[in-house]
Amino acid sequence: MSLQKMFDVRGKSVIVTGAASGIGRAYAEVMSENGARVCLLDLDRKGLDKTVSELKAAGGDAWGLTVDVTDRAAMSAAFAEVVSRHGRLDVVFANAGIDAGPGFLDPLGQRNAEGQIDNLDDHHWDKVIATNLTSVFNTIKLAAREMKQTGGGRIIATSSIAASYNEPIVGTPYMPAKAGVSHLARQAAMELGRYNILVNTIAPGPFITNIAGGRMANPEDRKAFTDWSVLGRVAETSDIKGVALLLASPASSYMTGSEIVIDGGVLLRPMKEAVMSTRIRRRSDRVNSNINMEETRDQSSFLEFQLAIHPAYRPEGRGRRRGNRCHAMGRKCTGEHHQDRLCQSDDRPTRPIR
Ligand SMILES: NC(=O)c1ccc[n+]([C@@H]2O[C@H](COP(=O)([O-])OP(=O)(O)OC[C@H]3O[C@@H](n4cnc5c(N)ncnc54)[C@H](O)[C@@H]3O)[C@@H](O)[C@H]2O)c1
Repeated sequence: MSLQKMFDVRGKSVIVTGAASGIGRAYAEVMSENGARVCLLDLDRKGLDKTVSELKAAGGDAWGLTVDVTDRAAMSAAFAEVVSRHGRLDVVFANAGIDAGPGFLDPLGQRNAEGQIDNLDDHHWDKVIATNLTSVFNTIKLAAREMKQTGGGRIIATSSIAASYNEPIVGTPYMPAKAGVSHLARQAAMELGRYNILVNTIAPGPFITNIAGGRMANPEDRKAFTDWSVLGRVAETSDIKGVALLLASPASSYMTGSEIVIDGGVLLRPMKEAVMSTRIRRRSDRVNSNINMEETRDQSSFLEFQLAIHPAYRPEGRGRRRGNRCHAMGRKCTGEHHQDRLCQSDDRPTRPIR
């Protein structure tokens, strides 16, 4: 199969939810740039109009509908309108989502009153779950109804790396919502495979978008994620286009129930020593100056959290210094290959991660 045919989405009927901004806009762009007919759904009318007119100006076949993805009746009407206009539905990106406010720690490891589980507002919980999880269920449901009629299609949900690990600086409701999206997509993939409807998820790491009020523009938030990324940067939305095209095109015809992580290696948790030593320094400064022991404890628990999730920095990892048994050398560590730094030669935990 030629390269052109393998990634051919020309003429495909596509819906993208949350398409006025960020990752959804990138999905709409790549589909439109490659000849698909794209309907963009978003509740931000102004952003939607702007995006649609830019896609059209670039030669794309794009149009928009102002819809709240949590409104089941409005979503159902929007899908009907797309099918009436395009004649069918081939690809749906269930992407719209919101942030969930601050986590229980801030990026410097200090306790955040607003993010504590015992302070979480019930309406806030309901809104995040409705937008980030229930709307994905509803979008998959509506897509499946249409795609069953026409012999198949592609459903691509935007999950997050938050589906795979817990992060104290991200609002708590975001975690179960995204874990739910990933698990729901796998369940739907299992059910819908016999109808040739392929369901996959994309799990982004830190992308510069407008989510959380454009939080990635905040140098402190951005630095935390930049430092954790193996690639030493956070992502631009263009970084997601290749995978979106892959999952929407014949190139992925044997993929279903898969999750593609695009995180610049954040899930590997390399946590460069620079970051760690900064935190340790901050922590010891506070201990030495004896300013605020409550804060110090929180800094400490943040550090311990980071240590706990990356095997190389787990307590047993920390024991692998000069004089201890070195997994790389198979005998007492002389420190030759890593001097007095933490021995990272073997990242495998000596006990299972819980
Ligand atoms: N940016 C990241 O770092 C990141 C990381 C992992 C996952 N994600 C996920 O990517 C998806 C897109 O987020 P983004 O970062 O591009 O954010 P964004 O804020 O730039 O874009 C989200 C879009 O969704 C729209 N939207 C929000 N609620 C809606 C609703 N109820 N109905 C219709 N439209 C609605 C917004 O108006 C906006 O245009 C979300 O599901 C988010 O959870 C983002």
